[in-house]
Amino acid sequence: MINGKKILLCVTGGIAVYKAAALTSKLTQAGAVVKVILSESAAKFVSPLTFQALSKNEVYTDTFDEKNPKVIAHIDLADWADLILVAPATANTIAKIANGLADNMITTTLLAATAPVWIAPAMNVHMYDHPAVKKNIETLYNYGYRFIEPGEGYLACGYVGKGRLEEPEKIVSLAETFFQNRTGVLAGKTVIVTAGPTREKIDPVRFISNHSTGKMGYAIAEEAFKAGARVILVSGPVSIDAPPGVELVKVESAKEMHKEVFSHFEDSDAVIKTAAVADYRPKIQYEYKVKKQDGDALIELERTKDILFELGQKKTKQILVGFAAETDHIDEYAKRKLEKKNADMIVANNVSQEGAGFGTETNIVTIYKKDGFSESLPLMSKQKVAEKIINEVSLLIKDMSEYEDRECNC
Ligand code: PMT
Repeated sequence: MINGKKILLCVTGGIAVYKAAALTSKLTQAGAVVKVILSESAAKFVSPLTFQALSKNEVYTDTFDEKNPKVIAHIDLADWADLILVAPATANTIAKIANGLADNMITTTLLAATAPVWIAPAMNVHMYDHPAVKKNIETLYNYGYRFIEPGEGYLACGYVGKGRLEEPEKIVSLAETFFQNRTGVLAGKTVIVTAGPTREKIDPVRFISNHSTGKMGYAIAEEAFKAGARVILVSGPVSIDAPPGVELVKVESAKEMHKEVFSHFEDSDAVIKTAAVADYRPKIQYEYKVKKQDGDALIELERTKDILFELGQKKTKQILVGFAAETDHIDEYAKRKLEKKNADMIVANNVSQEGAGFGTETNIVTIYKKDGFSESLPLMSKQKVAEKIINEVSLLIKDMSEYEDRECNC
């Protein structure tokens, strides 16, 4: 998939520049056409000649070193690329791009680029944790840049923690997935996936929640992305990283999840509601920490909005998939949910079974569809279950498109 694809690698100055040389080599070996821009500081770590030899292309370092009088190099490179990787990306370059600066060959090219840009940060763990860096990353994320999260481990500065440039093999595999996506069965489709628990606040230090870890939903988001979809992952608080390439929208409460899902719903083709959304929230949410008193305490609860139900009322072309976390009467409750919530598919898991449901790496599910079809799957990894769900969703989307085409012709 990567064969013949044009990748512009922007290398900024940090010790991880040596890994960018390996990345250049691996991308080139995989068949990509790689052009490299080195920042002035990157060139202090590894010479441009290394990148030239590995990419078999001229290397760019200076905005004013125009190699071809017929074009303006930074515009030409920006237009040329199918994908731009910034690896390693220093805190300094991240800050510059986030603020729209264009003071060197890399930042000027990035400002002129319309191709997707993937940023792979590498820096000291405390730098990566600094609020300014976090804010810049968030700004860039909202501009549509995507991030390849740094790995954890020994850092050149002597610290151990998050900040290592992702391994070149992994970056190549992500690039391969990216190009594969463009021809995948869900190419051009937008899929919303919800995942994780919600937290319903009692007071500033207490909340009501559940055991969802997000593993099932994140696996689905990853498979949907691999199948070529634009994926919007609306997630409650979890401690796992979002799969690269998906658009992560973080929420806390059922109310916030409701808002975010509906703000993207109209333009979506499918919604997969894996999240374990709270059915109730405290009627009063205190702004101060409630003091304990003698005797028992009562928390009065009120219903949250049933997001899946409301989506079922409002859907037009969207395929709607709900989950059912049950401990008994699985078949009966799942079928009831399918009908009551006007869903196209329900994935039921018996969460009392070992290896199924919350927190596990595996799941045991039965899929129910509107046309009466049902299929019970054996114990499988959540990733495999996700793959199966995405296959089913692709078929449903295909059926819906064919139906819409027929309606148009009438
Ligand atoms: O995150 P993991 O640790 O990997 O665990 C995965 C899981 C067990 C959370 C997942 O497989 C699962 O079963 N998710 C649905 C959990 C749940 O809330 O089930 P439910 O039967 O209570 O809800 C039915 C459906 O309605 C769900 O799609 C839910 O997202 C939706 N719902 C529920 C309540 C609400 N207020 N709004 C909703 O949209």
